[in-house]
Amino acid sequence: MKRVLLVGNGAREHVIAETLKRSPSGCELGVFGNANNPGIRALASSYFVANSLLNFEALRAFARDFHPDFAFIGPDDPVGAGAADALLEEGVESVGPLKILAQLESSKSFTRDLLQKYGIPGNPKFRVFTSSEGLREWMEELGDYVVKADGLMGGKGVQVSGEHLKTIDEGIAFAELGIAKFGRVVVEEKFIGEEFSYMSFVDGTHVVDMPAAQDHKRAYEGDTGPNTGGMGTYSDADHSLPFLKPSDLQSAHEITVAVLKALHEETGKYYKGIMYGGFMAVKDGVRLIEYNARFGDPEAMNVLPLLKTDFVAICEAILKGTLDTLDVEFEKRATVVKYIVPEGYPISPRRGEKIEVGAVPEGVRMYYAAVDAREDGLYLSSSRALAFVGVGATLAEAEAAAESAVSSVKGPVSYRRDIGTAALIQKRVEHMKGLRR
Ligand code: AMP
Ligand code: GLY
Repeated sequence: MKRVLLVGNGAREHVIAETLKRSPSGCELGVFGNANNPGIRALASSYFVANSLLNFEALRAFARDFHPDFAFIGPDDPVGAGAADALLEEGVESVGPLKILAQLESSKSFTRDLLQKYGIPGNPKFRVFTSSEGLREWMEELGDYVVKADGLMGGKGVQVSGEHLKTIDEGIAFAELGIAKFGRVVVEEKFIGEEFSYMSFVDGTHVVDMPAAQDHKRAYEGDTGPNTGGMGTYSDADHSLPFLKPSDLQSAHEITVAVLKALHEETGKYYKGIMYGGFMAVKDGVRLIEYNARFGDPEAMNVLPLLKTDFVAICEAILKGTLDTLDVEFEKRATVVKYIVPEGYPISPRRGEKIEVGAVPEGVRMYYAAVDAREDGLYLSSSRALAFVGVGATLAEAEAAAESAVSSVKGPVSYRRDIGTAALIQKRVEHMKGLRR
């Protein structure tokens, strides 16, 4: 039986924990978190709540105590800050890249420069700025543009012209903020198309893709309102999405393979973990929006419940560089994830209020995110609270299952009813058809 140290305690880590525990050879879980997730607590044999996931002194002490065979790092902040390097100093290897490789997510300019240097397709027209000089001219030349701060800003580091940025002066002001905070900002061409998440297991040289999913970042129905960490996702039974062509997934795969090779050439290190490409299907193919160096949240909840292969064995193959010898299989089922959030999220979320969860129906899974489990029940904190995953033979079945569970939660909460519905998916299909006519 393997001992695994899991870093993080959101819904993504809950499904990671559950999938590790499903291993036929068993798994002892030691969790290093910063809050008490009741779902993870029930699966862990040891659970340390630190003041911060970035307290690497405490992480190393926990590793010395727990003696894991390997670690799995869930969230972006510890990955980006070098949790894998800290654990390696204790002799523990991680599914999750070293800090130098995690720049793939933590530095937008690193990734754009890497694609350009190695001639990998998918980049927009872009320029990196370290001062305001030339910003206005470049924005005018691009017409529509996107400004990206060069570091992790909890999903708030990207602003898009015509959406968040109404004028060039606003664009310049946001770019200057990014320069002040991180010393650098990327200003790039804005793509028009449909986004999809394509995550892969990666062992340094081999890439094994998971089913594609589509996230919904906007807080309110009809893709309106402020951006969030993701309100919900869906994935289809054929492991693609209704608006994609098979060649789109092939192109995304080829970009990931090329980027993995370039990362090794550039740093001399092997990337071991998850590469999560945020891609956009556009008029004439696929473009890269960004890479994340970890599982997506909610996307992990679309794919891991369908994983048929022993997840512990996959992690070991990632560390050994032998993913090519494993047959990694996912069930051919559709999934829809819907998050319950506090009323008013993300601007002024109701917190500290009690919620009631009804019986979770057959075919639905529930994962805990930011909820406070007290003796008399569950209380909201200020972020995404609970996720429900409907699984079915078709998207319609999966959506109906998720909806029946999510609508049974009582309390001052909200969620997006439209995620995974036929009407919204048809809109995506029509959008793509219009672009590719
Ligand atoms: P991020 O915070 O990096 O996940 O980016 C937030 C969102 O900004 C993405 O999900 C896209 O919707 C949008 N975005 C980023 N880059 C581009 C681009 N080049 N063209 C169009 N939209 C973009
Ligand atoms: N689903 C968005 C993210 O994990 O970054």
